[in-house]
Amino acid sequence: MMLQPERAATAWNPDMVRGDFPLIANMSERGRTIYLDSAASAQKPRCVMDSMADAAFTRYANVHRGAHWLSGLATEGYEGARAGLQAFLNASGPEQIIFTKSATEAINLVASAFASFVEPGDEIVVSALDHHANLIPWHMLRERRGVVLRWVDPDPRGNLDPAAFDDAITPRTRLVAVTHMSNVMGVLTPLEAIVRIAHDRGVPVLADGTQAAVHHPIDVAALDVDFYALTGHKLYGPTGIGALYAKTEWLERMPPMLGGGEMVAVVGRDHVEYAAAPHKFEAGTPPILEAIGLATALDYIDRVGHSTIAAHETALGCHARARLAALPDITIFGDPEKPGPILTFASAAAHANDIAAILDSKGICVRAGAHCTQPLHHMLGFSSTCRASFAMYSTLQEVDALADAVEDALKILK
Ligand code: ALA
Repeated sequence: MMLQPERAATAWNPDMVRGDFPLIANMSERGRTIYLDSAASAQKPRCVMDSMADAAFTRYANVHRGAHWLSGLATEGYEGARAGLQAFLNASGPEQIIFTKSATEAINLVASAFASFVEPGDEIVVSALDHHANLIPWHMLRERRGVVLRWVDPDPRGNLDPAAFDDAITPRTRLVAVTHMSNVMGVLTPLEAIVRIAHDRGVPVLADGTQAAVHHPIDVAALDVDFYALTGHKLYGPTGIGALYAKTEWLERMPPMLGGGEMVAVVGRDHVEYAAAPHKFEAGTPPILEAIGLATALDYIDRVGHSTIAAHETALGCHARARLAALPDITIFGDPEKPGPILTFASAAAHANDIAAILDSKGICVRAGAHCTQPLHHMLGFSSTCRASFAMYSTLQEVDALADAVEDALKILK
């Protein structure tokens, strides 16, 4: 990467990194494809894939197992990645970071543990703003253990009111599960206030940080959140790697979700003793290379600077909203006072899937559908919307191309 930190600290020029993302750079040279779907999965800088290849070709073996030097080197790389994520989230110890294959798996890990902690009739507070990844595991707990889901609704702009959580919590509440940033409305939720309210009532909080961690610095200690889930592939890292941060007291209480090698201390014929966290939750051979790739991606983000990325994406979000708002028959979701990297829109005059298909024919990639948020879409009154999402490599010209193409699509489809 040819980043110069002093330049990165001022107004961000995406050309400083576009060359690092071969798919973006090559597509741009062809002038055909504009990638505005980074909220679904971000493109990867070459250094991420290089670090994985380098680890595979020079320092690879299984971790925590071998008596040999290669296993030692691989373990160093894998545990170094854990330390990188610990620093990224400001967790107090590396054992608080559990590597998973995705944020979805991280949330399922907690839900599976809570199956042991709940009784029928106990309650989980969820929000209608959330992605299915932070809803279905709790629905499964409802089906399997008879818990009751209590729903908190956002306002029409996607804002959650912390007081609504106070209202939803009862003496039967065992957990609040809420997103830190909506993948549709693009707004950050008031997580710190929600955590404060929940803790005052003795209730732990799990936050889905899948989107928030990409765009904002995350400090789990300051948030005081009990569980924080994230995924690597939206963080410019590889697929197949995610993580769960959890407070130590929970990691000690929680039973593992998967059993297998490396997660046990003693195995007898009629009893087992599990290893301590994080190993208790990482049965089998973990995603070694993917963890190393994720650590490289986090380092890359750090070098650009989270606040630089956020300022750039906010500028793009403002511009996109202003351009699209000038079009007829269009509804733009989210809070206009909180522009950001995600802009979701729909038209009563044209189906979102048709708009997206026309954009695709012009080389513009957006996501169309319910974005794994059916309860939210039900509230919005649309079964399908279009979502454009921006990243550190997105440009103002791409946003203009999007607005021009949406204008054309609406003319064709009305
Ligand atoms: N969770 C991803 C999204 O919001 C796939 O698009």
